[in-house]
Parts: sequence; C-alpha cells; structure tokens
Amino acid sequence: MILQPIVMDICHIASGRTRRWLTAADSWCAILIMKAALLFVVVYFLRCEGAVIVKTTSDAVNNRPIIGVLSQEQSMYLHTKYPEENYTSYIASSYVKDVEASGARVVPIMIGKDRSYYQELMQKINGVLMPGGATYFNQSDGFADAGQHILDIAKELNDAGDYFPIFGTCLGFELLIILESGRGDPENRIRCYSYDNLPLNFTEDFRSSKMFKNAPEDVINLLKNEDVTVNAHQFCIVDENLKSHNLTEHWRVTSHSDDLYGVTFIASVEHTRYPFYGVQFHPEKSAFEWKLNKHYPSSAEAIKANRYFMDFFVNECRKSFHTFENAAEENQYVIYNYEPHFTGVLGSAYHQCYLFEPRGTVKG
Ligand SMILES: *[C@@H]1O[C@H](CO)[C@@H](O)[C@H](O)[C@H]1NC(C)=O
Ligand SMILES: *[C@@H]1O[C@H](CO)[C@@H](O)[C@H](O)[C@H]1NC(C)=O
Ligand SMILES: *[C@@H]1O[C@H](CO)[C@@H](O)[C@H](O)[C@H]1NC(C)=O
Ligand SMILES: *[C@@H]1O[C@H](CO)[C@@H](O)[C@H](O)[C@H]1NC(C)=O
Repeated sequence: MILQPIVMDICHIASGRTRRWLTAADSWCAILIMKAALLFVVVYFLRCEGAVIVKTTSDAVNNRPIIGVLSQEQSMYLHTKYPEENYTSYIASSYVKDVEASGARVVPIMIGKDRSYYQELMQKINGVLMPGGATYFNQSDGFADAGQHILDIAKELNDAGDYFPIFGTCLGFELLIILESGRGDPENRIRCYSYDNLPLNFTEDFRSSKMFKNAPEDVINLLKNEDVTVNAHQFCIVDENLKSHNLTEHWRVTSHSDDLYGVTFIASVEHTRYPFYGVQFHPEKSAFEWKLNKHYPSSAEAIKANRYFMDFFVNECRKSFHTFENAAEENQYVIYNYEPHFTGVLGSAYHQCYLFEPRGTVKG
C-alpha cells in the first residue's frame, strides 16, 4: 500500500529517530495512523450521506441502557373503572416488559410537562419508546405535545452528534409521521380498519435498512410468511401520506400490510438520518397481552418474531451514553417506583397498566 512508507515517515519524524532504526513501535504507530485515516474516510463518507454518527468508537456500548416510555391520557374505559382515583395518564405494562425483556430499564415519561422537563430527562436516558393506544393528538399538554417536545429535542441531540433513538409503535408511529407532517388539519393519516394478525410484505431493499439488515433469516421468514404481527388500528399511514408531505426523502418504508378492505398501509419505517423507527403493529402484545377475544399470536414462533423489534431498539439505545448522576438518582426515576394494576381483570384490553396521578407527580 502506497500509504505505508509515508505513514512510516511520519511516525519516524514523530519519534525523532532516523530512518534506519525502524522499530516495532514505528509499525505500530503506522498502523494506528492508517486506522485513523480509514476511520476519517469512513466518517467523512457517512457524513455525506447524512447519517448520524456516534461520537465514540463504534464498538463502544452502554450495557445499562435506560429507556423512557411515554405515557398518554388516561383511557375513557379505565377512567370508569377507577372513578374515585385521580389517575390522568397511563402506560400499558406490556411496553415496559417488552423493553425490560431486551435488557433495559424503564423510566416513565409524563405528559403535560414543559419543555425543560423533557430536556432534562432526555439528558439522562438512552432513548424513548412512544407506545400505541387511543388518544387525540389535538388535546393540549397531552401525548402529542409531549411527543413534539421529545422529537424536537431528539433531533437537536442527534444533530450535535449525541445518538438518541426513538421508536414509535402504532399510535406512537402515527404521531411521529403526523409531527413530521407539521401537525396540520386534517391530520396526515387515513381511516382504515385493521384488527388482524398479519404478515409483513417487505419492500425490495428492506435488507439494507437499519432495522432489518441484521435480522436473522428465520425471523424475517416468520414475519414474511406467518400472521404474527398484531394490528389494532383504525388509522393508517399510506405511501401517499409520505409523498403528499414530502417525507419520502427522510422516511424509508421497509414493509407494508393490508387492512381488512385491502388498503395497503405502511407497517414499518425508519428515518434515513436519525435513529427514529416506527411500526404500525404491536410487537409487545404477543408475549405480554392476553385478552381472549383479541386472539393475539402467542406461539413460540410469534414470540420469537416479535421479540426482534425491542431487541433491535434496545441495541440502538446501547449506543447512547447518557446517564443519571448515580444509582440513587436512577432509583428516583425508574418505573419500579410504581406498581402496575391488574386491569385485564376489569375488562381492559391491557392486562396490566401503570396508572399515574395528576400529571407531573413523577420526580423531576
Ligand atoms: C383526588 O383529588 C381530590 C382533589 O384534590 C382529593 O380530595 C382526593 O383525595 C383525591 N383522591 C385520591 C384517591 O387520592
Ligand atoms: C379533537 O378531535 C376529535 C376528533 O376529531 C374531536 O372530536 C374533538 O372535538 C377535538 N378536540 C379539540 C380540543 O379540538
Ligand atoms: C408487496 O409489495 C410490493 C411492493 O413493495 C407489491 O408490488 C406487491 O404486490 C405486494 N405483494 C402483496 C402480496 O401485497
Ligand atoms: C413539497 O415539495 C414541493 C416542491 O418542493 C412543494 O411545492 C410543496 O409545497 C411541498 N409540500 C409540502 C406539504 O411541504
């Protein structure tokens, strides 16, 4: 390689020895410089593509990730079941368990807070999961406003080279796209009807996507051929929604599914620059929700296929190095401060839920 002699010279000059005294240290130094040059070239080209680069070396990982799960307005149904209580928001436990099963801890994120709350919290956590559910995006200080703060702050962090992933599931995915569409009226989604377990129809180039490039072949085959993804939505994002709002450049579609009337909706997407991901289906339900009449797929194969998504996301969060000050501070925020309620026995579609008091009782 032509680079080698030149690099050797630099090492030589740096070490102040003459050319005759080529030492092992020199070759070691040369290799180091060439590695640095290679890294520079790689980083340079990735930058041109616009992908967010992790500041630390790519093999450094945070194996104690803590992930924020966004709460949402208390469901009408649960409200009728706890008339005496002042619960105003909730998180379905299935999302928490799905994150925990991938090796992360969870911090609940409250709605109805000002920007500084989200800003401070996001400096301590390693990613945010925006769950599904049922709430309006037009209520002030709710799920959508909190989502807007989180998305804006996550972009600022990533733009500054501070890797910060977001994963949106079902309503959380729709929220990401609607926020990216400028929250116009009407909202940039269409009515549809999908309450089935469906396969994914992957796009032609899905294997080069961030989400699926490392997915095991057996997982892909299950997702492609079996009815393992749980759908429960009356709105869809279709290709046309991305086109009409100029989102196709930054949001890459990786799979579609069809609703009950044959409408082809987007089942999975990812942002091309930021580590932001969305799925219309519910990876958390197959292992952690049990309402009988919903017929969630809970075969070993379905569990395995659905497991993939949080494993992927938590791995993304391992690239973030935010931390709490210390274990004592972690302990103030983590979801273990709350006890889930057995809401399945009350008829809720969620088997267990965390229910939160008037917005803002969480520390911080
Ligand atoms: C709900 O809030 C009201 C008004 O602040 C309070 O009087 C009541 O004790 C609260 N209920 C519970 C169960 O905490
Ligand atoms: C929000 O949208 C829903 C559904 O379109 C509507 O029923 C409700 O009145 C709206 N609320 C506000 C505060 O605009
Ligand atoms: C799968 O998607 C491709 C486009 O990505 C489309 O051409 C094809 O018809 C779809 N197949 C099914 C079975 O929906
Ligand atoms: C999309 O881009 C086109 C061309 O740049 C522009 O005319 C149009 O207003 C944009 N639409 C939206 C919704 O931003």
